[in-house]
Amino acid sequence: MTDKFYIKGGTPLKGEVKIGGAKNSVLKLMAAALLAKGKTKIHNVPDLTDVEIMLNVIAELGAKTSYDKSEKSVTIDATDITDITAKYELVSKMRASFIVLGALVSRCKEAIVALPGGCAIGERRVDFHIRGLEALGAKIKIENGYVHAKANRLAGTDIYLDIPSVGATENLMLAAVLAEGSTRIQNAAQEPEIVDLANFLNSMGADINGAGTSEIVINGVKQSDLHPIEYTTIPDRIEAGTFMTAIIATRGKGIIRNVFPAHLTFFTDKLLKMGANIKLIEPNSLEVSCKNRLNSINFITQPYPGFPTDLQSMAMTLLTTANGVGIITESLYENRFMQVPELRRMGADIHQDRNHAIIKGVKKLTGTTLAASDLRAGASLVVAALMAEGNSVIENLHHIDRGYENFETKLRLLGGRIERKDDTLPANLTEDTHNESYL
Ligand code: EPU
Repeated sequence: MTDKFYIKGGTPLKGEVKIGGAKNSVLKLMAAALLAKGKTKIHNVPDLTDVEIMLNVIAELGAKTSYDKSEKSVTIDATDITDITAKYELVSKMRASFIVLGALVSRCKEAIVALPGGCAIGERRVDFHIRGLEALGAKIKIENGYVHAKANRLAGTDIYLDIPSVGATENLMLAAVLAEGSTRIQNAAQEPEIVDLANFLNSMGADINGAGTSEIVINGVKQSDLHPIEYTTIPDRIEAGTFMTAIIATRGKGIIRNVFPAHLTFFTDKLLKMGANIKLIEPNSLEVSCKNRLNSINFITQPYPGFPTDLQSMAMTLLTTANGVGIITESLYENRFMQVPELRRMGADIHQDRNHAIIKGVKKLTGTTLAASDLRAGASLVVAALMAEGNSVIENLHHIDRGYENFETKLRLLGGRIERKDDTLPANLTEDTHNESYL
């Protein structure tokens, strides 16, 4: 596919947008569904390529899967698991599928899962996942690019994570659900997606306490204690933060529905400090607006509840035209400033020194052709194009489609002038339609 976004910037976004289910939660819930025999149904599942990949991974293990797109629900019948291998062809497409390792070790006491390797934004090692599984009693061999984990018996233990890794916390929670005795994960990740996974597993019959704090205790239960469930995932806090940014960047005014504001406290606080207006108008709805030029701020990305790395690029877009100088320190990933060269091409004044970015606000950005390098950098370029003067074209949309459901449709409902077009159309047609009247 050679789809591109054609965007005409400068229109304030106005209206309402409804946030979908959390990608980074749903993918893990789908793996967790493998633990219980029978049919588990997950609601509020966004239609994303990452969800499709996870469904394929799970289907290859022998579970029966279906996705009802109109109902936004996924059904996973994990009565029979007939294969314990997650192949490189799928894991390399989406590293989050590495989560089936913990689920398979738990349910089948054996798993062969491809190592995901690095990705564009950083090295993204999985050593904590492996060390934790070993501590639980699994024998691990790494051969030919695969992790082979085998355990005659998993026994609860204390595990200390060097960094509160989201993926390691999730993999180890899954592995410990059916271990004998209690497992204590210390320095655990505290993200809302961890709490969602614990709630999901507990409704299934697991016994997990402390999710959402730095110490999670998983008291092992028996396979026969677990049963399939129906469960609705939490809203996507990063999608919500992205739309908040887009409204503020374009000096618009809009309502974000189906958001859990408590999941965005740190981000919201920074937006308020920049001069945006954010009001809670209902328990799950925020009204967001901005009239004036924003003020610059400094921030460091941190594990939850700190400033989310997944919204770093959005905040950088806001800083490009804010009053003064802002400094961002990216502390989670080695290479998460890939939007910087593209923003510079739009006129931004950004100096980057390793994991620090110094952004001197300019009066305006101007539109141009931009390439998305990964999911969040790509989304931030869409926001930048919406706030810029003139026209932009955004390429490599497959990155954005991994994590934003109907992105352009939702932006258009807010009045954004954005179209998706297949670039294999004759060039003259593309040029003809990329003009004022078309957008
Ligand atoms: N790390 C290690 N060893 C490990 C595990 C992690 O060194 O065994 C390092 C990583 O290299 C990274 C840091 O620890 O530098 C944090 O990684 P973490 O494990 O917390 O991240 P993740 O589970 O791989 C999830 C999200 C990311 C999000 C991070 C941090 C999913 C599918 N992905 O990744 O989301 O950035 O947590 O909040 O849940 C995105 O949605 O765009 C995205 C990248």
